[in-house]
Amino acid sequence: MGSLPSPHDPSNAFNPMDVAELSIESRLVMDFITQYYQTLETRPVQPRVKPGFLTGQLPEKAPFHAESMEEILSDVSEKIVPGLTHWQSPNFHAYFPASSSNAGLLGEMLCSGLSVIGFTWNSSPAATELENVVVDWLADMLNLPPSFRFSGGGGGGGVLQSNTCEAVLCTLAAARDKVLERIGDDKINKLVAYCSDQTHFTLHKGAKLIGIRRANIKSIGTRRENGFGLCPNDLRNAITGDLEAGLVPFYLCGTIGTTALGAVDPIKELGKVAREFDLWFHIDAAYGGSACICPEFRHYLDGVELVDSISMNAHKWLLSNLDCCFLWLQNPKCLIQCLAAEAEFLKGSGEMVDYKDWQISLSRRFRAIKMWMVFRRYGVSNLMEHIRSDVSMAARFEEMVSADDRFEIVFPRKFALVCFKLNTKGSVQHGEDDGEDGLDGDSVLTRELMGRVNSSGKAYLSGVEMGRIFFIRCVIGSSLTEERHVDNLWNLIQEKTQSIMPCRA
Ligand SMILES: Cc1ncc(COP(=O)(O)O)c(C=O)c1O
Repeated sequence: MGSLPSPHDPSNAFNPMDVAELSIESRLVMDFITQYYQTLETRPVQPRVKPGFLTGQLPEKAPFHAESMEEILSDVSEKIVPGLTHWQSPNFHAYFPASSSNAGLLGEMLCSGLSVIGFTWNSSPAATELENVVVDWLADMLNLPPSFRFSGGGGGGGVLQSNTCEAVLCTLAAARDKVLERIGDDKINKLVAYCSDQTHFTLHKGAKLIGIRRANIKSIGTRRENGFGLCPNDLRNAITGDLEAGLVPFYLCGTIGTTALGAVDPIKELGKVAREFDLWFHIDAAYGGSACICPEFRHYLDGVELVDSISMNAHKWLLSNLDCCFLWLQNPKCLIQCLAAEAEFLKGSGEMVDYKDWQISLSRRFRAIKMWMVFRRYGVSNLMEHIRSDVSMAARFEEMVSADDRFEIVFPRKFALVCFKLNTKGSVQHGEDDGEDGLDGDSVLTRELMGRVNSSGKAYLSGVEMGRIFFIRCVIGSSLTEERHVDNLWNLIQEKTQSIMPCRA
């Protein structure tokens, strides 16, 4: 009997995991990345491109035949990179950072390279256990009570998720189920969630997704005299009013480091109110949480023993390249009951953590290996040093702004975010003369100033409109930012200020 002819020549067989090729091509990619970082400082932070600039340059169909890594990288360099906003640029100050580091980047490579999925303990025991370890390590750095840690023995612990929106959504769902179990599913329209007018939209998004009526997502107004933190008395009044109206308060979100201003809610006092009315209390420490590893910032977490859950993005300020959001809970049982997914092939060990029950998706990334790499490679001392150096550069920048009587600081800096605007009348309360869009005159000028700074390509700032005020946010957070960049930024701001207010020079 003759053998059938082979449909293809095995010597030419496609092998997507050719390890010899991996070794060569990974070097090409690493060289590319290294060169990117070497030249980053000289690139305009924001691209000067028009909508559609990229789609017009790329073919309409994916290539039928394979292309070389060299060809692909050449296109990345010539077509993609010119259209990027360079988040890692030392001159990027617009948003809270997505802090990159060698250990974070290489940790991501390990995560992706090992490519395991630890949805149950069985599905990758070391992935699960390493995650248990790193969430406890960071809980220890933050001095969270033992009740939030696996090692605390009381049932508490943590999980690594992708982002804060996901973490908040999970806690909202757990809190909803907890209260509905008591009062009945048909009462969902009565549930009320509370936050402040400074809370990130993540709370609104999450609450809507779990079925809370829009009218029952209550943003309580904050005031300057309270440092734009949520006032416990205002919260109490809102809750009692809602109870009288027959509603069911069930969830409160506090923030450490609000997005617009970097404000901090008074956790202990809010925690007491939450306990009194049996609300699930979550802290969104997406940005400010990282700073709390330094003893001088830890007081912002005072009262954390009164909260049910707390989340923070390590990828924002803890040198842990996107993505990684830590979420800790004192009593994860409610979360697990809400999110547990059963199927024969998914059966867990029963005694160990099965992380599929702590998140939305089944599949999950091995983020723990990255965090373990970051913690070990830098040690707590260098992580603290990173935070402190950013804070001290921000403090210096704030001093320079304050010393110039054309500007005012709109909110005293707490972390490494400086909020400022022009104040041509030298008075903090100024703003009587209306400009366009209902903004005060100085705010209109401030927006113009920001536009000029940004379009220079030499720095990137963002702005916020609050009432009739427009102010600039300047975040110091890129891992590459040094004092000289901050000095250059200030010189640039002064130069552009001069160009819009020449008579005040
Ligand atoms: C205070 C705060 N909460 C939540 C978020 C949203 O985080 P994520 O993109 O991880 O969902 C941000 C983003 O900057 C933030 O500043």
